[in-house]
Amino acid sequence: MIMNQWYVILDSRQLGRGRPLGVLRLGERLVLWRDSRGAAHCIADRCAHRGAALSAGELIGDQVRCPFHGIRFDGEGRAVLIPANGAAAALPPNFSLRSYPVHEARGLIWIFWGEGEAGDPPSFFEDLGPEFSYSGWIDHWACHYTRCIENQLDVVHLPFVHRTTIGRGNATVVHGPRVEWKGGDLYVGMRNEVEKGQTPLKPEEMPALDLRRFHLQFRMPQLWQNWIGERLRIFIAFVPVDDRNTLLYLRFYQSFVRLPLLRGLVNLAGKLQSIVIARQDKRVVLTQEPRRSELKMGENLIQGDLPILEYRKRRAALKAEGQS
Ligand code: FES
Ligand SMILES: [Fe+2]
Repeated sequence: MIMNQWYVILDSRQLGRGRPLGVLRLGERLVLWRDSRGAAHCIADRCAHRGAALSAGELIGDQVRCPFHGIRFDGEGRAVLIPANGAAAALPPNFSLRSYPVHEARGLIWIFWGEGEAGDPPSFFEDLGPEFSYSGWIDHWACHYTRCIENQLDVVHLPFVHRTTIGRGNATVVHGPRVEWKGGDLYVGMRNEVEKGQTPLKPEEMPALDLRRFHLQFRMPQLWQNWIGERLRIFIAFVPVDDRNTLLYLRFYQSFVRLPLLRGLVNLAGKLQSIVIARQDKRVVLTQEPRRSELKMGENLIQGDLPILEYRKRRAALKAEGQS
């Protein structure tokens, strides 16, 4: 995991009011809840007393109460009442739990994961404005999140994995691809062709990216969009659960149909088609060994894998930064 980053961990709709929610994210057990204003809080889901899960407890006002001996914690992870010691007793500082800064926007909940200052809140793709509507779903992949991300940056697999859907036409020869970093985002443009004895263009021989045409965009550490058209996108937040499990928060976004009922139907159709495509990917990605990718791992990358190499390099650099 890259430290000192904001990570999407939930869809806003997953966190209701009135009771705590326990989740496993980034390899850690977390408890989240909404306070009386609706603001979300996130702290470690392990009571500082004797280790019970706070998520099995209940909310008392804006605090969460452990189900075992009733100790209450606030949104900062501080113990605020140890009932057995009496309300007048001092609260020992070692009863504090780790708390995580939370940010909620665009129907997503982020936490800041790391040791440093949280800094600015996380950003979302700026060009997915309010004119877009979406249908979303969550898909569990039993693999490391790096493999899921790399699959969405893989422009070589289309005619094989998606031969019956978006990879129809047997365009197996991969030109470039063109890869550019802009404002911290990785952009990928591709041009695949049917084999006819041609030599694929080198990445630097490809024309510069035209961001008003089909491309992929990836924002470290975990957001991706397939820019299909001005009014059509597929979005994914890759949410690490632990070293062997990832949740993909996928959304089909469009802005060409705005009438509520029709919009719902179009979004549903887009979602169903995307589910079929994602299933095709998942079937293969779950078989990859080693399970986690790293910059130096003994795979034999080819020219068409350039976006994957770029991702691995950037991840390695950010990991090194986060650990220093
Ligand atoms: S384990 Fe939580 S109050 Fe005792
Ligand atoms: Fe795919």
